[in-house]
Amino acid sequence: MTQKFEKEGHVIYHGDALEVLKAEIASESIDLIFIDPPYNIGKKFAGFHDKWTSDESYAEWAYQWIDECVRVLKSNGSLYIMTSTQAMPYFDLYLKNKLSILSRIVWHYDSSGVQARNYYGSTYEPILYCVKDPKKYTFNTDDIAVEAKTGAKRKLIDYRKPTPTPYNTKKVPGNVWYIPRVRYRMGEYENHPSQKPEALLERIILASSNENDIVLDPFSGAFTTAAVAKRLKRKSISIESQEEYLKIGLRRVLEKNTHNGEELLAVEKTYRRKNGKCNKEEETAGGLFDAISKT
Ligand SMILES: C[S@@+](CC[C@H](N)C(=O)[O-])C[C@H]1O[C@@H](n2cnc3c(N)ncnc32)[C@H](O)[C@@H]1O
Repeated sequence: MTQKFEKEGHVIYHGDALEVLKAEIASESIDLIFIDPPYNIGKKFAGFHDKWTSDESYAEWAYQWIDECVRVLKSNGSLYIMTSTQAMPYFDLYLKNKLSILSRIVWHYDSSGVQARNYYGSTYEPILYCVKDPKKYTFNTDDIAVEAKTGAKRKLIDYRKPTPTPYNTKKVPGNVWYIPRVRYRMGEYENHPSQKPEALLERIILASSNENDIVLDPFSGAFTTAAVAKRLKRKSISIESQEEYLKIGLRRVLEKNTHNGEELLAVEKTYRRKNGKCNKEEETAGGLFDAISKT
């Protein structure tokens, strides 16, 4: 049974994404959708095991909520969707008949400690960026502009102008985004196996929505999307099936202190050196000691 929680323009549903989309979300009501579903790679998400019997059965499951997301997206809305590199071709071929795919983004990150030795290890995840109407959609260029790397040591001057002026060195980022993964030591860390970095959602939300727009995330996990949407003065709708992660959202987005009588606490971190000692300087230095989660 679906449960609904709400505060000041931010709504959280505890339930199944497909059921909630069908029952609760009106057609053409959402400005921006960010979808980071289970990837069919065998991860454990609390009580949920991310593994289907075949690629095809995973795709068939996904096509149902993709259709629902297309239905609820406004005519000038944008949709970003992630999945594993091996499953993305299914999503790409399916979505190109429903929406306009404007960019195929690579989220590139630092590799984990475990390195592939006999093949090229994966250091990226793909993201499709789609819009319903390629002639009318929100894209806030100035809010996401980055410094263009020209290689020149001095500023390049445009001498064609009446008064020579430096060239504008700001540009829209390309489709390869280097953003570090969330590490245990980062302030934004939550106890979730595939938490996405706030910096990734910040770029997406700034580019593809405006203040007071509604941002939907049907697989909310650690509620990164809603937390960033809130900070950037957007409204949000989140769906999550696992109570363990729902509790993160209730605390992180709705600022609730308790749920069913249980106190909702942020991850409490302790840092312990191999010799058992610990001090404040070492906490920020990194590398010397092991991090131990108490949750
Ligand atoms: C890849 S994670 C999302 C991570 C999130 N983007 C973040 O930054 O933390 C996918 C989430 O979907 C949830 N989930 C799995 N099946 C679901 C379903 N049918 N409906 C709603 N949520 C589901 C999992 O519990 C998991 O937390």
